[in-house]
Amino acid sequence: MIKISPSVLACDFAKLGEEVESIAKAGADMVHLDVMDGSFVTNISFGLPVIQCLRKHSDMFFDVHLMIDEPIRYVARFADAGADLITVHAEARSNVTETLLEIQKTGKKVGLSVKPNTPIESIYPYLSLCDMILVMTVEPGYGGQALIPETLDKVALLKEELCRRGLSIDIQVDGGINAKNAEDAKRAGANVLVAGSSVFGASDRGAAIASLKKEI
Ligand code: DX5
Ligand code: ZN
Repeated sequence: MIKISPSVLACDFAKLGEEVESIAKAGADMVHLDVMDGSFVTNISFGLPVIQCLRKHSDMFFDVHLMIDEPIRYVARFADAGADLITVHAEARSNVTETLLEIQKTGKKVGLSVKPNTPIESIYPYLSLCDMILVMTVEPGYGGQALIPETLDKVALLKEELCRRGLSIDIQVDGGINAKNAEDAKRAGANVLVAGSSVFGASDRGAAIASLKKEI
């Protein structure tokens, strides 16, 4: 099943609660929360208190994407704040195995992400610890960028490796996903699609989500 996770980075932050409610009604399966620290990426977005407040207003599945330098220091606090899935970057400064085990300890789902220039093979040693792999389809840091087509080759390689090992781990793609390229992403093997601009910028969010969600 294809799942759609709209990124709130593209929404009106002054109305965050309503925006999240609107995508829940429009058929989103989860909500993607991009946390940026101004160091791992050059942008700063939002952090713990925002997620904590949002948790009180929404029972949606919170898909938290940590673009921060030392995720191991914050995993437990994001879990307490209301995250359901915590994704960390393989390129971050924390030890990957220890960080993934720390997420596992909280009882939340475990995600591991790679930036466009990181070879997908570099995360194969960690597959057995993960519920989801996030293959970034743009350089992390900003919404509204164009998808880098070569990143979908990494999705295909990963899908092949998962099949070879008999693992059923979700593959998420994030960055520049729209109705036009969603089919390529799904064909490559992605089953969780993050979409910021193409959902929040659509005049009909329900139709935008439905079109992204179409099975191939
Ligand atoms: C980029 C973020 C993405 C981004 C997606 O660093 O991780 O989640 O907000 O937004 P769009 O779909 O607009 O590229
Ligand atoms: Zn993201």
